[in-house]
Amino acid sequence: MNQTTSARPSPPSPSPAPEAAAAARGLSRTYGSGPTAVHALHEVDLDLPRGRFTAVMGRSGSGKSTLMHCLAGLDQPSAGTVTIAGTTITGLGDDDLTRFRRDHLGFVFQAFNLLPMLTARQNVLLPLELGGRRIDREVRARLDHVVEVLDLVDRLDHRPGELSGGQQQRVAIARALVSEPDLVFADEPTGNLDSETSAEVLGLLRRGVHELGQTVVMVTHELEAAAHADDVVVLADGRVREHLTSPDAETVTQALLGSALDGSALGVPVGGGTR
Ligand SMILES: Nc1ncnc2c1ncn2[C@@H]1O[C@H](COP(=O)(O)OP(=O)(O)O)[C@@H](O)[C@H]1O
Ligand SMILES: [Mg+2]
Repeated sequence: MNQTTSARPSPPSPSPAPEAAAAARGLSRTYGSGPTAVHALHEVDLDLPRGRFTAVMGRSGSGKSTLMHCLAGLDQPSAGTVTIAGTTITGLGDDDLTRFRRDHLGFVFQAFNLLPMLTARQNVLLPLELGGRRIDREVRARLDHVVEVLDLVDRLDHRPGELSGGQQQRVAIARALVSEPDLVFADEPTGNLDSETSAEVLGLLRRGVHELGQTVVMVTHELEAAAHADDVVVLADGRVREHLTSPDAETVTQALLGSALDGSALGVPVGGGTR
């Protein structure tokens, strides 16, 4: 296994690795046109392996959100392809894409996005019910397992308003995991949580990967968040600058410093703090 993969797609890359949960090939996303065009993603090649917890990092404006939206079929790239669990989703029509997301992907957002009038259990099961899935014994067994791993057993009958922020995010994670999606996307999942609760939530996301066999891709600008991940993808100016496999904290820090010499990717002010 390579420790790093180069940002430059020197020889045209081969087809996606068979074990990849998600693969991007020549993925570009340009906003606007002409001299004012912004190349938010520039010919990105990326394989996200199954069964890993990958953090996508980079300074503000490096293309993290754009990458996630393109990978998740929430945005159409200007060029290139995205393949998830063997299905090339680029070019699917809106209805097919919506169905694909529902059946194959899970999402965890910064704002927990729970429905306030439903209990935790109802929130967790809602996507399955909307998808027309019967809540049979198999689903209940999966639910039991997920809520046990996420330590939510005695919170299932509470409504979101009766839960702490960390508990609400755990409910959102359970909702994303209960359908056993091919890939879970987490967008700044700890952005609304204090550091202690963040660590707890990240540890539980990690358990989702290592104990439930899920694949999680998390966008974050927090170094502490990335420390819970297995692998780290560092973006800079819409390109993959590094794809680090099981890096130590020092390696991640160096990669981020290299990608943003003013240190803004670290979320800490550097020097005079002027940006
Ligand atoms: N809807 C948009 N219209 C124009 N430019 C955009 C739009 N969305 C993002 N961008 C630009 O694309 C680049 C990447 O943005 P984004 O993916 O949001 O980065 P990040 O999530 O890493 O902060 C930035 O330069 C941003 O200003
Ligand atoms: Mg963003």
